[in-house]
Amino acid sequence: MSKNFDLIVIGAGPGGYIGAIRAAQLGFNVACIDEWKNGKGGPAPGGTCTNVGCIPSKALLQSSEHFEHAGHAFADHGIGLKDLSIDVKKMLARKDKVVAQNNDGILYLFKKNKVTFFHGRGAFVKAVDAGYEVAVGEEALTAKQVLLATGSSARALPGTPFDEVNVLSNDGALRIGEVPKRLGLIGSGVIGLEMGSVWRRLGSEVTVLEALPTFLGAVDEQIAKEAHKAFVKQGLKIELGVKVGEIKSGKKGVAVEYTNAKGEAQKLEVDKLIVSIGRVPNTTGLNAEAVGLKLDERGAIVVDDDCRTNLPGVWAVGDVVRGPMLAHKAEEEGVAVAERMAGQHGHVNFNTTPWVIYTSPEIAWVGQTEQQLKAAGRAYKAGTFPFLANGRARALGDTTGMVKFLADAVSDEILGVHIVGPMASELIAEAVVAMEFKASAEDIARICHAHPSLSEATKEAALAVDKRTLNF
Ligand code: FAD
Ligand code: NAI
Repeated sequence: MSKNFDLIVIGAGPGGYIGAIRAAQLGFNVACIDEWKNGKGGPAPGGTCTNVGCIPSKALLQSSEHFEHAGHAFADHGIGLKDLSIDVKKMLARKDKVVAQNNDGILYLFKKNKVTFFHGRGAFVKAVDAGYEVAVGEEALTAKQVLLATGSSARALPGTPFDEVNVLSNDGALRIGEVPKRLGLIGSGVIGLEMGSVWRRLGSEVTVLEALPTFLGAVDEQIAKEAHKAFVKQGLKIELGVKVGEIKSGKKGVAVEYTNAKGEAQKLEVDKLIVSIGRVPNTTGLNAEAVGLKLDERGAIVVDDDCRTNLPGVWAVGDVVRGPMLAHKAEEEGVAVAERMAGQHGHVNFNTTPWVIYTSPEIAWVGQTEQQLKAAGRAYKAGTFPFLANGRARALGDTTGMVKFLADAVSDEILGVHIVGPMASELIAEAVVAMEFKASAEDIARICHAHPSLSEATKEAALAVDKRTLNF
């Protein structure tokens, strides 16, 4: 006997669990299925984000930043420390606790919102009169609508599978039991830079090998250049334009053969290697063929702008569909789909979806880059303001970087905001709000910002668009 619901959600990452909660708020009877297991085999909802992504990486970034400050910045404040050490096991245990708190929080939210949770793999069985039948273990569930939010997994280099001992995905990278003397990273994308920062701060000699000749190609060039300078100064070795060849993993570590940008054969020997070259959508366990769900050549679920698949009543959101692989993008899509199911007009604006790289300095941006505006032939004005001239940044002892505004040359509408520097992850929210309300740079320039605060750098960068900064 199958259990009937209005909606079955497969996947309880940010796309699935948030979509399930919103649908329940709108009055649907919702089931949510997720297969992630914690260390004891119990449920661990939250997906990649909670278990091996956003949350644990930020926990380790915080721990390692404290360590770096204690070792390098405290002395400037007159704080002396003797025998500074890092207990990696304790740091990892704290990270695991933070993850578990988030897992428990989601189970609580399911109860609160009356979402029925099933722990196990969900797979299509067949289309039925009432919609779709989905199996989870021995149970059969039916629903008129299905929301697929099965996420993504790390992409391995061809011929070099992850063993999570020497060759690590994001999962293993978050569980390294002691500080490796030499750490290699393939890919200088978001994971490479965040994970590289964690282990460099704790004492590893970190080398990043990147295939592309440009550093952080999706980031505004001026911002990427500033960030590159800061990372190199900190000791990250970043080699661009490389071609990775054979990788040999053994008891003594990992040897990576590669050709550098000049075409010279090179060898990198490291104790651990993290491969962070992008992610692939999770669709293999879904039994998509049973219902004729359309996938593209990458295995991603094909959806329209509203997250509708080719099947009536079947929707898909998050990393398993097109668009940026970001937790907040997945969440917004989950909410929008639930609202569309209820006949409302959910909407996700990719142009105002912020990006953040949680390195130090942090990098955050929203909207278009200067190179995109140039390529589109759009007439624009730019204004920048350095944190060096911001009183709060000086007091913090963190003056690296700048805020940069790009605005339409005629209407002054904000087209993009790019930040490299302290708390960029928080500062970018003001820019997102401004762009959602189609604000002009002058609007931000006229708003009163608290003093002393980093947000004054945002105001000053907006003033800089009109070439009238007050403090620089
Ligand atoms: P996921 O979070 O991947 O969740 C999918 C869930 O579905 C998983 O629990 C999976 O087990 C389950 N599942 C899959 N198939 C089935 C099935 N057949 N049956 C049952 N369950 C199934 N993004 C940010 O915005 N900010 C960050 O700071 C950030 N940091 C990151 C750091 C790292 C190291 C990584 C790897 C990613 C990071 N991301 C970050 C990206 C973010 O984690 C993803 O964009 C986000 O998790 C996508 O959400 P999702 O719901 O689409 O999928
Ligand atoms: P990524 O797409 O950010 O970066 C991958 C990098 O690897 C690129 O620079 C690419 O040119 C390079 N690369 C690809 N193949 C290569 C090869 N064979 N040799 C050398 N370099 C190669 O992917 P990453 O870092 O794996 O992260 C995946 C996604 O997870 C991100 O795109 C992002 O969406 C999400 N994420 C978000 C975070 C955040 O929001 N703070 C943090 C971490 C991940």
